[in-house]
Order: sequence, then C-alpha cells, then structure tokens
Amino acid sequence: MARYRTAIIACGTIARVHARAWLAVRDQPVTLGALADTHADARREFGDFFGIPEDKRYADYREMLDAERPDLVDVCSWHQQHAEMVIAAAARRPKAILCQKPMAVDLGEADAMLTACERNGVKLIIAYQRPHHATWLAARDLIRQGAIGTVCQVQMDDGGNLLNTNSHNIRLALFLLDEPEVKWVLGAVERTTDRVERGLPAEDACLGLVGLATGATILIQGNLVRGLGQGCRVIGSDGVMELDTTRPEDSEIVSDAPMYMPEGPSARYNAEIGRVRYFSTTTGGWVQVEAPWHDAWAHQCQEAIDWVDGRVAEPISRAERGRAVQEIMMALFESARKKQRVYLPLKTRINPLRLMVEHGDLPVEWPGVYESRARIVRGEGMSWHATS
Ligand SMILES: NC(=O)c1ccc[n+]([C@@H]2O[C@H](COP(=O)([O-])OP(=O)(O)OC[C@H]3O[C@@H](n4cnc5c(N)ncnc54)[C@H](O)[C@@H]3O)[C@@H](O)[C@H]2O)c1
Repeated sequence: MARYRTAIIACGTIARVHARAWLAVRDQPVTLGALADTHADARREFGDFFGIPEDKRYADYREMLDAERPDLVDVCSWHQQHAEMVIAAAARRPKAILCQKPMAVDLGEADAMLTACERNGVKLIIAYQRPHHATWLAARDLIRQGAIGTVCQVQMDDGGNLLNTNSHNIRLALFLLDEPEVKWVLGAVERTTDRVERGLPAEDACLGLVGLATGATILIQGNLVRGLGQGCRVIGSDGVMELDTTRPEDSEIVSDAPMYMPEGPSARYNAEIGRVRYFSTTTGGWVQVEAPWHDAWAHQCQEAIDWVDGRVAEPISRAERGRAVQEIMMALFESARKKQRVYLPLKTRINPLRLMVEHGDLPVEWPGVYESRARIVRGEGMSWHATS
C-alpha cells in the first residue's frame, strides 16, 4: 500500500527515469501523485504514460505544491531552475526533495538550497545516481578494505562540460574516497566558442587537479581525451581500479513512445550497468567485480524513503555531497579566473565561468551563441526560458 505521494516538477527526459525509479522502490511505498510542467505536451504525454489524473497536472509548479502538499518533491528541471524550485518546494515542507544534478549553477545557490531545507526541516538529496550502482558500491568497499593499497590519485576523462557530465565523475571520486576533505583546486578552462549548455555558458574543455587532505589528488580531464567516460581510474599504492558504465542495446529497452523522444528511450538510464575491474600486487591480473544488478535510480529513491523513515542516517546522495561537487567545480573555474591555486572553503558565491564570459576574459575565437542541448528543447525554444 502506497504511503507517500511524489510530485514531479519538470516532466522532460530525466523525469521519466525518476518516475520509473519511484515506482520500482521495494514494496511500492510511493505513488506518483501530481506533476507540473509549463509545456502542455509534456504534461499530457507524461501524465498519460504514468497514469497521473488530468486534474493533478499543473502548468505552475507553485500552484501544484500549494494544492497537492506532496510528501516528496522531485525537481527534474534544468540546472538554473534547481535552486528556485527547491527553495519554493522546501517552503511547503514536504518530507524530502530529490533534485537533479548539478545541484545549482553556483555555490551561493547551493547554500541557499541547504538553508531553505534546513530551516523547514526538509531532507534534500541531489541525484548523482551512479554511486548507487551495485558494482560501484562494491568498489568502495574494496577500496576501504585496501584492495589496491592507499589511493594516490583518481583520474577522470569524460566528454562534455564540467557541470553536466564531469560533475558525475567528481561525485564518484569523492564517494570512492569516503567523502574526503578537499584542500585546494588548480584549474584551467578553454572556451573558444560561445557554447551554452541548457541555457548556461559552458566551457569547451577544462583541466583540474584537486588536492585532498589525505595527500591524494583527483585529476579532472574535461572533454580533452576519451577514456572511461562516466567512470574513473583509481591509482593505488598496490594496484589500479577502473570503473565505467555500459548499457543494453536500445532495441532491448522499453520505448518512451508515444512520448516525445529526442534522445532515444530514456529507460536506457534505468538500465545502465556499472562495471568495475581492478588488479593489485596479489591478484595476478585484472579481476572483474561482480554484484547483482539493480536500477541505481531506484536504489537512490529507496534511500530517500529510508532516510525519511529513519532507517538510514547518512544517505549516499545527501545534499551536502552535491554541494561538495559544486564547490570543486566552482573552485576550478575560480582558479582559472584568478590564475592561481584556490584553497577551500571557496569564498566566491557566483559562477566564475559566467563572470569570465561576461567580463570578456575568455574571448571566443569563433563567435555565435549555440545551445549544445538544443535538440531536447520542444517547439521553437532554443533555451530553457523559451520552452513553454
Ligand atoms: N543524472 C543524470 O544522469 C542526468 C541525465 C540527464 C539529465 N540530467 C539532469 O536533469 C535535468 C533536466 O534535464 P532533461 O534532459 O530532463 O531536460 P528536458 O529538457 O528533457 O526537460 C525539462 C522540462 O522542464 C520543463 N520546464 C521548463 N520550465 C519549467 C517550469 N518553469 N516549470 C515546470 N517545468 C518547466 C520543460 O517544459 C521540459 O519538459 C538537468 O539538470 C540535467 O542535468 C541528469
């Protein structure tokens, strides 16, 4: 019997992945109670597909929050709407809020979100879902047990920009190293074109080195080389571990049809498989880490409910950990702006990349703004504010 009602704000691609995840939580303690989206087609398609009654579909998310008073709020909008929506939801005091990554667009917003949730007694989770992969959970246990000795460096090499894709890998590194204290960040940024990602100025490539209190470092290679993608390489004193992801063929995955599907079936996210292999001085070669597969997103939703019910005290994806990722990303940009190493805690509250772009500190070589995610926007819109 369902006990909690979830309301979803912004019903695009990732909201479908979340909806499946809520419905896959063990013993089904959750119903999808209401939705909000400014786009009429998104409301109709999502509502019909997931069986949300027409009178529970809202264009205005604040109206929905006031009328429905959901137990759980799920924010699936673009980055620059996360803070506004989480703060508005927190004011209505649901039990918990799940918000998509990146937590916010700068550190000031991330802190405002934490404050809003704290003063209203609301639990906040930032949906960096990948540490919830069964094999990646096993990887952290192996590292804790010393399977590759003392970790010296975590290396990452995904494509895409820092906030969108590399943020996942920074979260992974912090998770694998048991949420270490970060001392400093040294970073460089390249922006030769006027790229924006989901309406926000984005870099073409970046490079960062993160110094941890343990003496280990995290190496961020953003859109520079192709290697493990969503994953990382962990270098230890006695061995090496590699994590990455793979997915079944689209033909093996349930389709979103008849919903709009600009990027293929969204269930490929739910079906994603985390892979881990390692070797050490004692293994005599690579060892593949096996663990029974589960949907990482459903695991994250399960933890949210367990947190609300008091069965979990320290959920993997609690918001402070999303904030730690945000601080590293903003420190990397701030280091590029100040051309020096930046020591944490970071004092800059706004997004230093945005500041550099606005001040002309990163003059583009090939002018002309373009939206790298334009294909996912509906209708005539080319950016987040023009989607309704
Ligand atoms: N964790 C992951 O692996 C992962 C993967 C993809 C996307 N994401 C994140 O999910 C977020 C959403 O991305 P997406 O690809 O699903 O976007 P999308 O464009 O598919 O969906 C966004 C939806 O927001 C709606 N919207 C816009 N303004 C609104 C408003 N004021 N009120 C209500 N709805 C509004 C739009 O109509 C659209 O339906 C991003 O922050 C992205 O980083 C995470």
